[in-house]
Order: sequence, then structure tokens, then C-alpha cells
Amino acid sequence: MRRISLVIMFLVGILGGCTPRTEADKFVDDLMSQMTLREKIGQMSQFAPSTGVVTGPQGEQIDVRTMVKSGEIGSILNLKTPQEIEEMQRLAVDSSRLGIPILFGHDIIHGCKVIFPINLASSCSWNVEAIRKSAELAAYEASAMGISWTFSPMCDISADPRWGRVSEGSGEDPFLAARISAAMVEGYQGADLADSSTIMACVKHFAAYGAPEAGRDYNTVDMSERMFRDRYLPPYKAALEAGAATAMTSFNDFDALPASGNEWLLKTLLRDELGFDGFVVSDYRAVTEMIKHGVAADAKDAAFLAMRACLDMDMVSGSYLSHGEALVKEGLIPEKEIDRMCRNILMAKYRLGLFEDPFRYGGAERYAEAIYRDETLDVAREIARESMVLLKNDGVLPLDDAKEIALIGPFLSSPRAMLGSWTAFRDYDRTVTVDEGFKARFPGRVHVVKGCEAFAEVSGGVNEAVRAAKNADVAVLVLGFPGELSGEAASMTTVELPECQKKLLAAVKATGKPVVVILTTGRPMALESVIDNIDALLLAWHPGTMGGHAIADLVSGDYSPSGHLTMSFPRCDGQIPIRYNHKNTGRPADGIGLRTPGSRKIYQSCYLMTPNSPLYPFGYGLSYTEFVYDSLEVMTPAVHQGEPVRVRVRVTNVGSMDAATVAQLYLRDMVASTTRPVRELKGFRRIFLKSGESQEIEFTLTPDDLSFCRADMKFAQESGDFKVWVGDNSDALLESAFTVL
Ligand code: GLC
Repeated sequence: MRRISLVIMFLVGILGGCTPRTEADKFVDDLMSQMTLREKIGQMSQFAPSTGVVTGPQGEQIDVRTMVKSGEIGSILNLKTPQEIEEMQRLAVDSSRLGIPILFGHDIIHGCKVIFPINLASSCSWNVEAIRKSAELAAYEASAMGISWTFSPMCDISADPRWGRVSEGSGEDPFLAARISAAMVEGYQGADLADSSTIMACVKHFAAYGAPEAGRDYNTVDMSERMFRDRYLPPYKAALEAGAATAMTSFNDFDALPASGNEWLLKTLLRDELGFDGFVVSDYRAVTEMIKHGVAADAKDAAFLAMRACLDMDMVSGSYLSHGEALVKEGLIPEKEIDRMCRNILMAKYRLGLFEDPFRYGGAERYAEAIYRDETLDVAREIARESMVLLKNDGVLPLDDAKEIALIGPFLSSPRAMLGSWTAFRDYDRTVTVDEGFKARFPGRVHVVKGCEAFAEVSGGVNEAVRAAKNADVAVLVLGFPGELSGEAASMTTVELPECQKKLLAAVKATGKPVVVILTTGRPMALESVIDNIDALLLAWHPGTMGGHAIADLVSGDYSPSGHLTMSFPRCDGQIPIRYNHKNTGRPADGIGLRTPGSRKIYQSCYLMTPNSPLYPFGYGLSYTEFVYDSLEVMTPAVHQGEPVRVRVRVTNVGSMDAATVAQLYLRDMVASTTRPVRELKGFRRIFLKSGESQEIEFTLTPDDLSFCRADMKFAQESGDFKVWVGDNSDALLESAFTVL
């Protein structure tokens, strides 16, 4: 009966003809006019059943079903099956007083059933369209499960691989991450949120969560507003401008105020300056975590701070439901504020079409058709190939003429090493492991030996690996970190290879056979201490469901590697955090080499024993062919402010193999009202060239590309001289210049 009344109201809204307000406004106003204060606060409350996927600290058991029937829950996250979702929706629609549909959310961040490479890996493809497509395909599968909201894209910039969540982002550069974040929103949401194969995106974690002190998850974040605006804000802003329907607050404090109660972040910046009109959800229990932060005395105080900051929905803490009515009755939070926040959430449900048909998402038939489609698997394999980065190759790759391969290492048959973190709906038995990929591509020529565990030796493992290597033409070692070591609450104090893996590598290298390392990891690793034992190094990341095939596609030479790093790889832990877009300082190191104790002091910004440069820089990636960049020309060597700058370059594939690469354009603002990075990415183009083929590429730099947060705190450009470089990594040497008059 209740559902009929909602549908009638929906139709009345449409048939009521054009009113000053939209049909949506009219529908939501009518609905809210019938709601009690508690029911409105219920819409602002999200919970996870204790039987669901665990994505945060667990608390007291709650009776979700009873709360759904009493209209005290507006959204549920982390249900495990389409059946559970459908059953819970039916309970809400048929058994609650007003039958308001539930919003089902989940972390679909790099695929749903078919898992794509982790986001940091996909960013190394620099293939923005492929990343958009992967989000579209993930939404297609998720919506078939009944999920209509994903907590993605993660837009947090980070240059600190100690922080496990770098795996979820798009690296250290704001220009690239902004384009990827916007593309993911477009992929998830499509042209119409009411399309039942699209889902709401969520811009997270707002804000600056990727800069925790010491790289330790949840730790304090403290930076100038200027640094935030120049280096961290762009991806959030781009994702919001792409139309993201929701945003999520981060766990960290920002300028000493936790994001979930931070009025500058959530009102002044997000609502007023950026014009966001969707709804904001907290991160998991982040509202009551303001007690631990020391800015709230208790849960009621925390709810007050969050509501005052216009945080619309409380994820899991229950503080809104427990204290919201009292805050209104005591006059601390005006009921019109509750109305505004509740309206934001109901409008999202309306846009999703949930009031018209609460069961438009999901359904057993839809689910069976939607998952593991060939198109999805093909895209997963292709983007996995494009995300892998060839970091070193003494010529041993590709293995097209290899006779016998000794495949060695702790992750050979590990599906988790292929999948990484945030893969709640994965199927291990559908995941192609490294050994499966190799045996399919090199039938009869692969001899598998584990050699050691991820962090522990195996009795006799090294000797067995050495024997296998001696009996083979080439040794391929799959080393790195296990998939569960990336993601949330996975901070590390070292990103070096574990000792047992170093020992295994050294022993196999000592056989004199060529050594290929396939690196599986969710973060950059410090490899200087082992790189001399490696003849070829292919960074596979956690490449997803089709990872084993994609690795074999590249190792065999069927395809050339084409990935380029989006995070710098340090030489050693001591360099972290390390980034390409660093400042010059007043005493820049001029690379005159290392000091030894007692030698002449070098009064420069450098280390005593280690170069400043990373082992592999941002933008770096090798190919099986060779690309030459020349004829760099700035067609507009002098422009006025407000005018575009046009730059042209020629790229030639001078090698013998057809392949893709990423042409990158970097700028340096030589003199400005504030210190500026020594290089900034301001253009890129992924191109495919046949052997011998040349292509001319033109970049157009807009006034925004030349703008920054000036000394007067205005985002604008300034006149002056600029240097420009184009090449295939952030150390590109091909240089030119232009002037803004
Ligand atoms: C987690 C994560 C966040 C995720 C949320 C829901 O704690 O911080 O990224 O979306 O909770 O699972």
C-alpha cells in the first residue's frame, strides 16, 4: 500500500505540470511534509549489518532489519549478495511507514566482479578513456547487484608509499589525477543517473587524506591552504565538476579540525566556492572519531559539529540517530538544517529513480547477464597490460624465444596478488594467476617453484629455486608485496623487498642465468639495493582478474609494455616522501655527487650518502621499441595573459615493434610571486605508433594551466618566463621556452 502511495505521489509530481519548482522538488517536499523528525534523521543515517563486508572498526551489534522497518536507516553499505540487497529493499518499501527505498552503497573502486588493476596501476596507463570505460563496466556489474552508490573515485594525491592507500589513488600529480578522477565519475554516472546501469559516484576522501604525517594512515594532515589548493584540491574539484553526486569526508584533521566537522572544508569550500549540491557522507565512524580527535566531548557533541558543518549523512557511528532529535529540540541545530540535509539525500534517491521503481537496480536475471561479460574481461586484460611499467630491461625481455622458464616466487599462484585490496565481490577461481598465465602462453616450458613465502623463508626453497634456474634458460621471479598489504590501515615503515625475497633473488642471480622480476605491489618500492641482481624488471602492480594473462602478454612480446609511472620510485626508504614536482629551494643540489665523511661540506639541499633523484622518476616507463622526440616548437613564444600557448613536438617510433607511449609536457614558471615546482605536468597524450611511424603532437596550454594560488591567494596566472619540456618522463631533456607578457 505504501509503495502505491509513493508511486502515485511520483506520478502526481510528473502530471502536476510545470510548477515553479521541479517535479523532484515537489515530490521531495510532499514526502518530507509527511516525515517525522526521526524519520528525516533516519535518512541521514547509514549502517552496515554485522554480517556484511567489514570495512571499518566493528562496534555494538545493531538490528538493521528492525531499524529499516522503523524508517531509521536511509542507506546500508557492505551487504554481500544481490539477494540480501533485494530482500532488505523489500523490507524497507513494504514494511516501513512511508516505504522510502534504501540507498545501497559499496566500495566498487576498481571493479565489482571483474576486478580491474588497482587504481594506482590503471593511472600508469595514462589512458583516461580506458579508465572511464572500466568505471562504466564496474557500474554495470554493481548496479546488477542492486548497488546504486559506489565510494569512488578516491581523489587523494600522495607521494608517500609508506601509506597503503596510495594503491587506491592516481598518484602524485594533480593534473593527471584530476583528469582520471573526472573520467571515473563520468564512467560511474553516465549521462543519466536514472539509467539503471549507472551508479552514483563519491568524491573521497575530502580532504588531503593522502598527506598523513609520517605516511601513517589516519594521521594528522597539516599544510598551508596554498599548498592544498595547488597540489591536493584539483582532483576533488575536477571530480565534482564532472557531476559527482556525493562526497565523503576523510578521517584526518585538516588545519587542526577533523574533516567531518570542518566548516571551512565542507561549507566555505565545498558548498560555497565549489558549488557542490549533492550530499556528503562521513567516512566510517568518522563523526564519533572526533571524540578521539579531542574536539568533541561525546557523541552528541560530535553529531552537533558534523551537522553544523553540513555533513548530510553519518556512516555507521549512529550519532545522528541517537542525538539528532535532542540537538533540534535544544535549539542547537535548526530543524530546517535537518530538512536541508535530508532533502539532499532524498533528491539523490529521486535522481536514481528509486522512488519510481525501488527494484530497478538488481534482480537475479540482470545479475546473471551482467557479470563476467567478455567485454568486461577484455577491457580488464587490456588495461592491465597498459598499466604495467617496464622499469629495466637489459635485453632479456621479451621471452619470445625462451626454451625453459623457471617461474619462481611467493606470489605465482596467488589470486590475491593479482587482485589487491577492495575486492569484496571477487572470485578467486575466476582470477588468472601468474602461473596460469605463463602456462597458457608458454605451454610445457614453465617450471614452478615457490622459493619462499612473502615474508618468510621456506625450508629448502632457495636450493629448489636455484636448481630450477640452473635447468632453465631464464629465471622469472614474481616478487613484491601480497595484495592484502595495500589499501586501508596498511602503513609500512619500509618499502624494500623483504629479506627472504632478497635472499632468493641473490641466489638465483648467482646461477648466472638471466633474471626477470615481475613485481606485484600496491605501492612504489625502494629497489636500489636489489636492482643489480635484476636484468629485467616489469612492474605488474596488482593487475586484476586478468593479471596472469596480461603479464604473459607482455613478457612474451605479444604486446610491448607502455605504462609510465604516476608515482616516483625511491632509491631507499629515507627519500620518502619523494615527488617530481618538488620545489627548488634556495640551495638546490647540483648533482655534484656524494660526500664521504670528512670530505668538504656541500652547502646544498642534498643527502650525505644518497642522490636526491628517485630510482625511477614520475612519468618513466620503457618499451620494447624506442621513441625519439624532436622538433619541439612553441608556436606562440610570447602571449598575453588570457591567451593559450601552443606547443608542437614530433614523436617517432625508431624501433622494430609497433607500440604505445605517453608523450608528456612539463612546465616551469621561472619567477613567480610564490615558489613554484621545478616541473609540473601540464599536458600528456597516449599515442600508438607503428615501427618507423612519426606523429606530430600539438599541446594547447590554457590560462588555467598557467595559473596557481598566487601570493595574493588568488588562483590566476602571472606574467613571466616559462620553460617547457616534452618527452616520455619527468626528466625529459627536450626543452623550449615562452613568455607571458
Ligand atoms: C572505509 C574507507 C572508505 C570506505 C568506507 C566504506 O573506512 O576509509 O574509503 O569507502 O570506509 O567502506
